[in-house]
Order: sequence, then C-alpha cells, then structure tokens
Amino acid sequence: MDLPRLISQMTLEEKASLCSGEDFWHLKCVERLGILEIMVADGPHGLRKQARGGDHLGMKKSVPATCFPTAALLASTWDRELVYNVGQAIAEEALQEQVAVVLGPGANIKRSPLCGRNFEYFSEDPYLTGEIATQHIRGMQSQGVGASLKHFAVNNQEAYRMMIDAIVDERALREIYLAGFETAVKQAQPWTVMCAYNQVNGTFCSEHAELLNGILREEWGFAGLVVTDWGAINDRVKGLAAGVDLEMPASRGFNDAKIVAAVRAGKLDERVLDRAVLRLLELIFRGQQNLRPDYHYDAEQHHQLARRTAGEGMVLLKNEGELLPLAPEAKIAVIGAFAQAPKFQAFGSSMINAHRAVNALDEIRQHARGSVTYAPGYALNSDAVDPALIEEARAAAVAADVAVVFAGLTDAYESEGFDREHMRLPDNHNALIQAVAAVNERVVVVLYNGAPVEMPWVGQVQAVLEGYLAGQAVGAATADVLFGTVNPSGKLAETFPLELEDTPAFGHFPEGPVSVEYRESIFVGYRYYDSARKTVLFPFGHGLSYTSFDYSDLELSAAQMEAGEPLTVTFKVKNTGSRAGKEIAQVYVHAAQTGVFRAEQELKGFVKVALEAGEEKTVSVALDARAFAFYNPRSSDWTVEPGAYEIRVGASSRDIRLTGELEIDGAAPAGPEYPAAVTASLAKGLIFDEAGFRALVGRPLPGNTVDPRQPLTLNSRVEDLQHKPIGRILYRLILRQMDEILPITGTEGDPQHTQQMMMRKVALDLPFRSFAIMNDAVNPVMVEGMLEIANGHVLRGMRTFLNGRRMNLGMKQK
Ligand code: BGC
Repeated sequence: MDLPRLISQMTLEEKASLCSGEDFWHLKCVERLGILEIMVADGPHGLRKQARGGDHLGMKKSVPATCFPTAALLASTWDRELVYNVGQAIAEEALQEQVAVVLGPGANIKRSPLCGRNFEYFSEDPYLTGEIATQHIRGMQSQGVGASLKHFAVNNQEAYRMMIDAIVDERALREIYLAGFETAVKQAQPWTVMCAYNQVNGTFCSEHAELLNGILREEWGFAGLVVTDWGAINDRVKGLAAGVDLEMPASRGFNDAKIVAAVRAGKLDERVLDRAVLRLLELIFRGQQNLRPDYHYDAEQHHQLARRTAGEGMVLLKNEGELLPLAPEAKIAVIGAFAQAPKFQAFGSSMINAHRAVNALDEIRQHARGSVTYAPGYALNSDAVDPALIEEARAAAVAADVAVVFAGLTDAYESEGFDREHMRLPDNHNALIQAVAAVNERVVVVLYNGAPVEMPWVGQVQAVLEGYLAGQAVGAATADVLFGTVNPSGKLAETFPLELEDTPAFGHFPEGPVSVEYRESIFVGYRYYDSARKTVLFPFGHGLSYTSFDYSDLELSAAQMEAGEPLTVTFKVKNTGSRAGKEIAQVYVHAAQTGVFRAEQELKGFVKVALEAGEEKTVSVALDARAFAFYNPRSSDWTVEPGAYEIRVGASSRDIRLTGELEIDGAAPAGPEYPAAVTASLAKGLIFDEAGFRALVGRPLPGNTVDPRQPLTLNSRVEDLQHKPIGRILYRLILRQMDEILPITGTEGDPQHTQQMMMRKVALDLPFRSFAIMNDAVNPVMVEGMLEIANGHVLRGMRTFLNGRRMNLGMKQK
C-alpha cells in the first residue's frame, strides 16, 4: 500500500480526524479511501473487550476472557518463555475478538509498595522490568496483535495521576524510570507506546517532545505510534508536535478542529500532521491485515497456561521445618474467606470478566486424603474483627494437624485510581492469623495481594506463600504448590520491607496535588535497602523451593577488560535435594571504585534453570557494557568508569553465593560535577534533603502549595470547584448528575461499592480539560462556561455554558 499517496488524497479534516478515537475503543475510519476501523482493548493480564459505548474503568462488563496472573506475579516467575506464552495467549483472545491492539504491558517501576496499580507493574528493578516486558510484547506481537507499552513515563502513583508533576533527577530518570521501557522498545518494538497522564519535570508526558520525539524515537529508534492514556491530552496541537499521534478516547471533534485551525493558521507544519497520519495508517492497515475473523482460541488451554504461570510465580517466602509441601493425609483446617472467594485481580481498567475462578478450598479438597475443615475467619466486606468468626477458626485450627490461613488485601485496598494508605493487612486478617498461630504450631499463611504487606506475625507462623493476584486459576495453582505437585520457583521481583517507614519514598509518596519529589533518586527498592544496609522482611530476588541448590565454579570471560567490552559470567548450579526444581540465579554488579553515587549492587542478568534431583548444569549470563555503566548527565550518555568491579552471583540480592573480581581499564571519564548541596546531603544519608534535591535536579521545585484564590483553569480538578463559593454549587450539581450516571448502589465494604467509589474518585480527580471530553453530558464550551461561573464571571459564564449546551444538543440530535 502506497501510504504517502493515500495521505495525499486525504483532506486536512480527514487527516486531523484520524488523530483521535471514534469512541472509547475504536480508531476512526475514512470509508471513501478504504481506511477501516480498528479496535483496541485493555490489557494487560487478559483481554478486556467492551461493547461499543463502554467505559475505560470497567463498570460495564466485557466479554469473557482468560484472566491470567497479574504483572506482579508474571515478573516473579522470572521466566522469559512463559511470559512470552502468556503474551501470545492474550493475543489469541484478541484475534478471536477482532481486537488489533491490546493495551499493555505496564512497565512502570514500583517506587513505593503503596501505588494502587503495583499489581499491574512488574518490578522495582528496571532490568527485570525490561526483560519481562520484552517477552510479553514479543509473544503478543508474534500473533499479529499490537502491544501498547504503558504508561510512558514516571507514572508511579495514582494520587493526582492526571496532573501530578513528577520531579526526578536525570540519573534516576534514565537509570530507573526509563531503562525498562528502553529495553522493551529496543528489543521488542511494540506497535504502540502509551504516554502517561502525569507531567515529568514540568511538562505533560502527552506533550513532552524530549521524551517522545527525542528519547523514545530518535534515541531508542521507536518506529511505532504514540497514543495518549485515556484522557491524557493537554494541548492537542503541542502534543502532535511533540510526537503524540493518537489521542484516546474520542474528543468529539473538538481537538481535531484545533489541529485543522493550527495548520490553517500556519502554527503547525502540515508535515507534522502527515507524519502522525502515516503512523496511524501503518497501524490501521497492520491491524486490519492481521485480523482473523474465523479464529477461535482454546479456552481450556489458556486456563491451563494461567494455572501453570500462577504456580511458577507464587513465591514461597518462608518454610520452617519443611512444613510444606503438605502431606495429603494430614488433617487440614482451611481458614480465611479468600480460600473460598479468592482475590485474583483488582479493580480498574485491567479488570477481566474471567471465564471462571477456581478457589483453593475446592482444590485442596481434591488433593487431600485426610479431613478438610473450613472456617471463613473474616467477612470480605469489612476490616472489623469478628470474634465469633475468629473463635470458629480457632476451633478448626485446634482440631487440625495443619492450618492453612488465607489472607491478603480485599477489594477496597488495591485499585487503579487510588493508592494504599498503609502497608498493613486488614485488621481482621492479622487478628485471624495471630489467633490461629496461638493454637496451632503448624500454620501456613497464603497471601493474595498485589504488593508487599507488613507481616507482624511472621515469627509466629511456619510457612508463608505469597500468591499475589494470580488470575483465574489461582486456587488450582495454590493447591499445586501447597501439595508439591508444583515445586515453587518464583522469586520476589520487589523487596518486602519490614514496615512502611523503611521505604525510600516514605514521606514523599504519594505527594501532591502539584508535584511529587523523587528524593531517593536512584535508590529505589533493593538499591536503597542494600546501600543503606537496612534489614528487610524478604529481600528482592528471594524465594524458596522444596529442594536446594548449590552454586560453584564461577568463571568470568575476563579478569581485566576495556571499558565498553562485554563480559560472560559462567557458573554451575546443582540441585542438591531429592526432587526436581527450578532455580533463578541472579547476577549483580557492584562498582567498587566510583566517583559518583551508585547503589551497592544492581541486577544485570538472571537465568532460570530447571534441574532434576542431583543434576548440575553450567549456565552463562552475558553482560553488555550497559551492565557496568551509569547515566552521565555531563555527557548525556552512559559511562563506564574504569576501576574494580565485583560480579556477584546469588539466589537473591541478600544471598550471594559466588563473587568474582573484574578490573575495567580506560581513561577516567568526565563525570557530573555535583554542587556542594548534593554532596552535603549525601553525607547525611541516601535520601536527599530539600536543598540537596533542588541542587540535584538543578532548578526550583514547584512544591505543593495551591492558592485557592487563584482562578480555576482547564487544568484544575473537578474537585477544586469546592474552593470557590459559586463553584460549590456547581460541584453539588455535578455530584447530583453523577448519582445518575455513576450511582452508588452497593453498601460500604461490598466490592461493587468499592468499584463505584473508585469510579467517582477518578471522575472527580479529572482535570476540566479531560472532564470536558470524556463525558458526553458536557463539552469543552460548557466546561469553559462552568469555569467562568466558578471564577465569578457568572453572566458571561452562563452565556458560554448555554452556547455549549446548544452545541451538545445539536450533536446529540445528529
Ligand atoms: C489507564 C490505562 C488504560 C486506559 C484504557 C486508563 O485509565 O490508565 O492503563 O489502558 O485507561 O482503559
């Protein structure tokens, strides 16, 4: 297809129209030129295809699909091939449903355990993130379905997500927040990248020329299309110039008209529009060509894949006295409502309408040959301790050989749209575990949650299995691991700190409403805990098996090499136990001599190796120059410093089994010259103080003070109406309208209620510019009128509002 020729046949209006969606899920078409519609759908851990007129946060049902384990668990498999298979399976479901692009995977870094969407992200480490994201994308695209790598970039908190300005220094940006995206883009070439809602260092991602045209396209060679997150566009024309091709969802013509006007007024070079249209057409035709109308996927096979993946990614955190695997003839007390009603995914745009949900209680009954009793122990819709339920559970535990307690985070805790407020389990879950541990000395805790929790009872129980949000086969996979049908091999892709106060972002997460300061710079996750020598609950990379492994014979391909050269790390891993198992061996690099601040060690390679009992294998991990480099703001490039390095091979970040010395030669590069405030701050600790951080980012910090007397703008949030006397009236009217559109019908604590509250929160958190286009009841002109009214220009505002209303009515009649 001669696309440039096709573009030359399009009118300016047609070209501009392609730059935004037709509705929530479809791109536009130009029938007269044979440009047909394609559909996109969420992502990331399964297909969430909604009917036309759907919503993007999951209130309306979507077609049944396989709910695969969420990203947090996928990453804990550290299994490149398996993740590829999951990506492929999701694409097969998309093919059946005629979906051209699936919106995922998410490659944002888990900056704090509290981020509400951590379950949708892979890791606190950019190397692991990049490797897993790459496989997810490759698998998906191998079937001719496009991926959408999201949310680019520095989208690490849900609070104020549409507006927040993430203030991050250049090294942290490159080394931590962009590195995973970089790997995935370079290795897998996703068809699309989705730009995030937030701002990065003062500029919205949706108009960040340096990030999009610069880093993503020119530097990394991204050849696909950039789409906005849903409602993320700020200034459409600026966005187009910065590299945003497609605005989603529909902006009902308002933003397309701005593009047309800008071209006509000579403010936007038409070639910029043509470039975007070319990418759009490439995507549309590619998507169209790959559709396979008669395709049917095998739901049973996908369920089995979901089960296998869940079993591979669950992490055995503790197993004192080899309590696990369970003996089938044991008398087992299954305790905790999650055993019967498992939590296996969370609310928001990723929520799948799962084909089925397998619970652990039924599966345990199938595996067990002894008696199995069950006590719920807590109510699902409340955090309050219920003494009667606890008593019942205690009685069950007393009578059993072993008690398996299911606990975790209920619906109200984890979701898109808001962050957790603390790192604790619900009170009734903690109380239940403690009560059971007091009467039985053989207690296994199974956790279903998307991110780390504090475990005040960890010393009182014998085994802990982190089951994460494991998808629809959750119960089967849990039983597989509990009974040893599957030998656990998952390892943590994130640190479990002892308590929230220990986390590096503590005090600066979440932050807002204006900005969030990434004061810990590169010291994210284990980079911080290891450098600060902090005790943690369970370290990054940790995970037990029912067998044991020995490491030996480390060999480096060179003891001395030039900066820029690659290195091969070879060693042996032996299964020293009596059953087959898999070990994830990790390779960390420690820079022993450095002129810049660096983390104690960084993950730069890993291998997952399957070994029969007694078997030994020699494995190799290749490290390229980047494995030794830091991002040098002085040269705007990656720099390898000459000097001594240590190569550490381990079973976790805190269980290093082998070390090797390496000397890198070369001329000392010119590194960054840090202002005195940076060095002074670092001398006090790894988390930068305000002066140090300001000096590190090199400009004034926006802070978080908002003057309520300032007029409201298109970038004020709907909630901000409450700051203005007349605004409060409008706010009440909006709430009343919401009661109709987004009614709260459930009672507090019910899943449905949580979901409805989440939707409301997201809606009220919208900036007016997004509120104006994502909500059919208003339009940008009406919203402009509302702002004028709220700002005290009542008559003028009324006129504008009524004009807008007429336009809206006119549109509806059409
Ligand atoms: C989310 C995206 C999602 C999109 C479409 C947004 O609110 O941030 O991850 O793909 O909605 O549902």
